[in-house]
Amino acid sequence: MSGLSVALLDWYEKNRRHLPWREDPKPYYVFLSEIMLQQTRVDTVVPYFERFIASYPDIVSLAKANEEEVYLLWQGLGYYSRARNLLKAAKAVVESYGGELPKEKEKLLSLPGIGPYVSSAISAIAFDQNEVAVDGNLLRVYSRLNADKIDVSSAKSKQKCEIYYKKHLESPSRYNQALMDLGELVCLPHGVPLCDKCPLASFCKAKRLGHPEDYPLAKRKSVVRKVDLHVLLTFDTRGNIAVRTRPDDGLLASLYEFPNAEGHPSICELGIAYPTLAEFRYLGQAKHRFSHIEWNMRVYEAKGILPGYEYVPVTELKKRYSLPTAFAKLLDPFS
Ligand code: ADE
Repeated sequence: MSGLSVALLDWYEKNRRHLPWREDPKPYYVFLSEIMLQQTRVDTVVPYFERFIASYPDIVSLAKANEEEVYLLWQGLGYYSRARNLLKAAKAVVESYGGELPKEKEKLLSLPGIGPYVSSAISAIAFDQNEVAVDGNLLRVYSRLNADKIDVSSAKSKQKCEIYYKKHLESPSRYNQALMDLGELVCLPHGVPLCDKCPLASFCKAKRLGHPEDYPLAKRKSVVRKVDLHVLLTFDTRGNIAVRTRPDDGLLASLYEFPNAEGHPSICELGIAYPTLAEFRYLGQAKHRFSHIEWNMRVYEAKGILPGYEYVPVTELKKRYSLPTAFAKLLDPFS
């Protein structure tokens, strides 16, 4: 075993995080957690993971679920295409593999929503196969260990990093999780890394050179498109609120929405654009940031019936409709 793997695995035994998918790393648990963790922090994921496995304890029960139920449990986690693909993947596992996730990376890769990172993570963590799941954490740790100013967004950097980690690979399940924990707990991305707590400090070239925080190359900021939107919280005479489902592709596909459209019209213009509504009242402004889009929403209350919408009690909406956070947060004054 290389000195690096010995130090890493030893550190992991003593310092690892006790996470619900780790104590009993069933393939289904690893699969579900990795899908949830793709764009979301560990602390946020834990309660969602627990609620999910309480409703769907195994892949067969998940495969029988309908999309709407799954969206409801996903509500607030964002990136809803993950939920849609999760369900499709569970169905494919039941149809093609008798309900058992395969252990080979190549087979996992053919399932909906499972890319190179998640397939490697499942194969290594759940099945102890010789794979390395390279994410931003592993790229940063690699970059510092080798004082190699890689561009973390390039496919070539990922390959280079994978080759490096495979050279030291031992006990793939623990090794992968150890690297993830090291990146998330010690070799921190912002500010100064905690080198005095790092089991790999004596192997680290960037530390030796004196400025580990200079690695890897700073990412170019992604461009965020700003969109002005007006949103109408529209009530009928019984106090029920208007919602409908969004188109089945694009941002927040298939989820529920309040009446909304681009632009910031005046109240007079709203009256013309929505002739069946009345009593418009400005409630305030709210922002919501997605990965590449920011909604700048002006929110209005209105009364009346809009064709094409269903009217539901606000309390039901929260319990039974998959309303994305961008809209759900506008309801706070009404709940
Ligand atoms: N980030 C992504 N996958 C992880 C895992 N299995 N454990 C901890 N952090 C992670």
